[in-house]
Amino acid sequence: MKKVIAILLGTAMLLQLSIGSTAAYDAPKLEKDEWDMYYESLIEENTLPTLNVGADQTQVNLCWHCDKDKAEAKVEVSTNSDMSDAKTFVGTTTASENDTQLVCRVTVTGLKEKTTYYYRWHTENGWSEAEKYETKSFGDHKALVVGDIQIAEEERPAESEISQINIGRNWNNVLATALTQNPDIAYLVSPGDNTSTGNTVKEWQTLLMPKALRQLPMALAIGNHDKKGMMYNYYTSMPNEYYGNFFAGLDRDFWFRYGDVLYLFYDSTSGNAPDHMAMTKEAVKLNPDAKWRIGVVHHGINGAGDCIGDAETEILLSTIFTPIFDSYDLDLVITGHTHSQGRSHFMKGRKVLSPAESGKTYTDPEGIVYLNSNSVCEKVIMDYEADYLAYSFLENDITTYTTLDFKGNTLILETRRGDTGELLDSVTIERTTAEHNENSFGNVMTRIGYKVIEALGFIYTMIDNLVRKFS
Ligand SMILES: [Fe+2]
Repeated sequence: MKKVIAILLGTAMLLQLSIGSTAAYDAPKLEKDEWDMYYESLIEENTLPTLNVGADQTQVNLCWHCDKDKAEAKVEVSTNSDMSDAKTFVGTTTASENDTQLVCRVTVTGLKEKTTYYYRWHTENGWSEAEKYETKSFGDHKALVVGDIQIAEEERPAESEISQINIGRNWNNVLATALTQNPDIAYLVSPGDNTSTGNTVKEWQTLLMPKALRQLPMALAIGNHDKKGMMYNYYTSMPNEYYGNFFAGLDRDFWFRYGDVLYLFYDSTSGNAPDHMAMTKEAVKLNPDAKWRIGVVHHGINGAGDCIGDAETEILLSTIFTPIFDSYDLDLVITGHTHSQGRSHFMKGRKVLSPAESGKTYTDPEGIVYLNSNSVCEKVIMDYEADYLAYSFLENDITTYTTLDFKGNTLILETRRGDTGELLDSVTIERTTAEHNENSFGNVMTRIGYKVIEALGFIYTMIDNLVRKFS
């Protein structure tokens, strides 16, 4: 009898394990020939949708291209796979980068947590196939960070490791590893350089190919490569886009809220200090109860790799951004650009306030951790030393990913290899209160002093805008 019970219990445990490890995402890893065939079947099209995060956890934004004559910005959402009892959401159409298509954008609202939805969007051939989208917990949840996806231009030889087709496969397979290991990931954070020239349809088409992206909303910062063209404008629909008074062209900041977390996305290709500060002030004012404040910028401020010793990052961008981050008491800043994975100690400005050692937990620490992601695209192997780094990964030929696990009072950062999922670095921050100290005397004084930087940033932005206008 004991043996039978043991076998039954063992079987039940195995079943539970296999159920627990079942990926909620349709995110298969693809071998080269499988991916190549998939890529070739889609690369000439221009209709894949972008699923972006919404203004909060109850919303998502969808954006896609459609023939001008037939474009209707409509999305149907149902809890039934046959799309019965669907609710229709209507959005807007705007001009695209070409003469034959329009860009459709729709915001889906009223989503409930831990619910399976099916959605379809209106294409030139009627409704698309229904896609499954599972909302995750609106409280404790996980976010995924992958840096510098930077899908290459199509001109590179296909056999090159950094051709468009091969970077696309790496992108697909890193997502597959991350989402299979973490089926509870709710959305993706990209600190920018999503594309290489920022100027071609095929870069975005390749970026959007992984099937997982029909189910995983993305928050995409603008990087210097994205800014080489205007395509970001036609393939994204970010929430709370902030154009301020002086942004021009592609430049903008945006913010969103998910559960207890406020994300502030900054366009670090713009030196527009007054608008970066104003966006922060507005977002913080509208979200006084957000327990966590997380900044996302493209450039590797307090990062790893060749930002170390780089005057643009260490002087110009640090001067513009760190007083904003510090005086609004951010907990974490996510960066990219250097294609080098690393993580800082707790920082204020460019100074270390206290250690943030790998594997340890810190309760109510002062200062900000800076997480610098590496890249999906070209790899750089550089051994730069900096005292402010608590961790640096020196095998950046391997794409890494980081999960932000918001659990109770804690934020657990875990960085893993994108091929094997092996854990490289982790640190846990515990925050026992949602209170932030942006109104302390020191922080208010910082922002008063920052007016000088705002004035200089304004002049810099005006000159930059003029140069762009006439170049
Ligand atoms: Fe970059």
